[in-house]
Amino acid sequence: MSNKKKVFIKTYGCQMNEYDSEKLLLDLEKNHYQQTGDIQEADMVLLNTCNIREKAAEKVYSELGRVKKIKDHKTDLKIGVTGCVAQAESLEIFDRQPAVDFIVGPQSYHKFPEIISKVNDGEKNIIETNFEALDKFQSIASLAVKPKPSAFVTIQEGCDKFCTFCVVPYTRGKEVSRSHKDILREIIESAKKGVKEVILLGQNVNSYNFEGISFPSLIYSLAEIDDIKRIRFMTSHPRDMTDELIRAFGNISKLMPFLHLPVQSGSNRILKSMNRGHIVEEYVEIINKLRVIRKDICFSSDFIVGYPGETEKDFQETIDLCEQVQFAQAYSFNYSSRPGTPASRKEELDEDVKKRRLHVLQDLLTKQQTTFLERQKNRQHNVLFEKIGRGINEYVGRTEHFSPVTVVSKENIVGDIRRVEINAVMSHSLRGVLK
Ligand code: SAH
Ligand code: SF4
Ligand code: F3S
Repeated sequence: MSNKKKVFIKTYGCQMNEYDSEKLLLDLEKNHYQQTGDIQEADMVLLNTCNIREKAAEKVYSELGRVKKIKDHKTDLKIGVTGCVAQAESLEIFDRQPAVDFIVGPQSYHKFPEIISKVNDGEKNIIETNFEALDKFQSIASLAVKPKPSAFVTIQEGCDKFCTFCVVPYTRGKEVSRSHKDILREIIESAKKGVKEVILLGQNVNSYNFEGISFPSLIYSLAEIDDIKRIRFMTSHPRDMTDELIRAFGNISKLMPFLHLPVQSGSNRILKSMNRGHIVEEYVEIINKLRVIRKDICFSSDFIVGYPGETEKDFQETIDLCEQVQFAQAYSFNYSSRPGTPASRKEELDEDVKKRRLHVLQDLLTKQQTTFLERQKNRQHNVLFEKIGRGINEYVGRTEHFSPVTVVSKENIVGDIRRVEINAVMSHSLRGVLK
């Protein structure tokens, strides 16, 4: 069709990486690349990586091994590594996989256009892993968002909290908030293109503060944009759940009644050892306050099981906390020791103990999720339809509580918010009929 080059992008990890991949693709498109879903026809393969757990990082190297095999037959194939493994491992990546052409850390994406032209000129071993977060925000301010019903918008990057187990403060740098004006501009532009829902992103999104504009103030100002019907945010930290933010859930109907609020553990001893900066009782208090202010609110969380020093009693306290809160959904992981973090110097628990505990917790969380979904049966919900489903005439959207719903419709309802009656529960999602 055209003489455009093709780029295959694989994104690992969190929503922040997904957002970044979209932005990197826009830079590539300006430089005459187009995206392909077929790695075999690619002129460039970009792996946007995650370093959060060992498994995530190791996946990158096995994928690089596979890409290298393609390059063996197609010597002008360019291979790039971006994201948190790029930042954390830097030059080591060239050592472990010499077929890689360029490495760009998340704090250097503003230099990506420059890097693309170097790559096109045949330069090898290009590396950019400096920390210049402010520059990065300045450059993404000018990029437009692709039209779709629900869009991520990064408003804050980095983390100053230094939980003892976590690599994010080292890969994403210190907390930086994006300019209020730039965020508004991006969201108003997006709304013109059909975006109905924004999901505000940040490693500690509720610590947002730009020249005195707090996170709740930002949400109030976004709620005034007529065409934006729904506002969500992730990931928030319990320490930054101020009363002002809690009240916003009562005052802003566009702020959806679903909150992802990671707690990691139900044991105060473990929370202290993790340097989380809050106790279990404070977490429960936030949940209770929110439930008073917004009756229909539901919660999601992250848990780490088998953190060094976790006893049966500590683990039981995590189970007790789940029983008390009743989560609508949650993610749970076995602790993974990450090089360079303070926790990596602690003695690890036995793998079998970790696995058994994770199994017990996941069983409980799955049950809670099913209970939550079952409760939606025969109820009506407002659903924002985001995409075409797999079956004939199927459309997939989300309820206000972020639960995926599939319906059948003769007309295309992507981008619409429609009333849906739920009539069936699948393993992690709902089915319903349009009202
Ligand atoms: N900023 C968010 C979480 C970012 S990382 C917060 O503070 O809650 C996403 C999740 O990955 C974390 O909530 C945690 O549950 C998990 N995680 C982070 N480091 C981990 C590690 N070393 N081992 C296992 N899970 C980890
Ligand atoms: Fe990691 Fe803790 Fe920062 Fe979350 S708050 S990104 S878990 S260091
Ligand atoms: Fe992973 Fe980096 Fe996100 S480590 S979870 S991609 S911030």
